[in-house]
Amino acid sequence: MPNHLCSLYLFIFLCLPYGVAYADDGSEQKAILVTGASTGIGRNLAETLAAEGHFVYAGARKMADLDALNAIDNIQAIRLDVTIQEQIDDAVETVRNGGRGLYGLVNNAGVVVAGPMIEVDEDDMQFQMDVNLFGPYRVTKAFAPLIIESKGRITTTGSISGILSGTFIGPYSMSKHGIEAFTDSLAGEMEKFGVQVSVVEPGNYNSAIIDTMRNRMQQRGQTPEGSLFEEELQQLMDGPSDRSRLKEPDEVAAAFLHALFDDNPKRRYMVVPNQGEAEITIKKAIEELVQLNEGHEYSYDREALIMMLDEALAASEQ
Ligand SMILES: NC(=O)c1ccc[n+]([C@@H]2O[C@H](COP(=O)([O-])OP(=O)(O)OC[C@H]3O[C@@H](n4cnc5c(N)ncnc54)[C@H](OP(=O)(O)O)[C@@H]3O)[C@@H](O)[C@H]2O)c1
Repeated sequence: MPNHLCSLYLFIFLCLPYGVAYADDGSEQKAILVTGASTGIGRNLAETLAAEGHFVYAGARKMADLDALNAIDNIQAIRLDVTIQEQIDDAVETVRNGGRGLYGLVNNAGVVVAGPMIEVDEDDMQFQMDVNLFGPYRVTKAFAPLIIESKGRITTTGSISGILSGTFIGPYSMSKHGIEAFTDSLAGEMEKFGVQVSVVEPGNYNSAIIDTMRNRMQQRGQTPEGSLFEEELQQLMDGPSDRSRLKEPDEVAAAFLHALFDDNPKRRYMVVPNQGEAEITIKKAIEELVQLNEGHEYSYDREALIMMLDEALAASEQ
């Protein structure tokens, strides 16, 4: 190879960030892994990313879902249960062998376990944490080297339940509160590698999550009978499980796109379908701030709190 061509080749090779390939039309194609892409938010996001020309590794568990995802342009389905380390290791190998590197990781897979804190089975609590909290921890740990190589992005599907904690939804809220802490610790640690980390916190959108919860409870023969909260739980069970009346999670996918591709991604993306959900979440965060501040030697007065709020607002606008 002539010298000048050799150095051009080396320049391209050295300067192209790993994790980027090129689409048929020559445009940059980044590879992103989305876990839990069979239905709901993950499916919507995988389809949105693929339609925008990115390359998606879509995690799913059932053969029918893997086949359906593989039929979509720019999507390669990967069998990935986030509670099974062997499948996670196989997924890392598949992505490495794919030769595209990995620019983005979206930890999206999740389930809901509901029940009163003083009655919920330890098995159920383990299951909740295994999928929603240990899942992102395991998957992130396994894919971190690839993401660091590409100076990429890591984002996780949290929830407004990472700020709110209502009755009978304690296990789920605990897992999503954990994701808030996971995100902040990880973000601080990844900074030195040029990897940016965020959490997307949706409110209520259409998905299969409540049907899946009810099916699991039915399979396990769980009924409100005999509970100290029988009446309240029966009301919960009789409530609507059909989420099709809710908005499709298009705006949730849009937040992920910002987190993955914007030059200045935010740490937190609260995405809610209406003012009411925004209000209860923000009020809860303020209530917690007030509770933290009250009744001790080092409390701040109203003026000082408002000054701190103004400083935080100014910092977020930069
Ligand atoms: N929809 C909402 O209103 C809402 C609000 C806030 C947060 N979220 C969060 O959004 C994420 C997606 O949920 P969704 O609402 O879109 O519900 P969904 O339609 O039920 O999707 C959940 C996804 O997670 C997958 N999954 C479950 N257990 C898994 C495991 N062990 N390993 C790998 N994948 C697994 C499911 O796969 P299978 O089909 O194989 O079960 C499915 O693809 C969750 O983290 C959820 O907590 C949802």
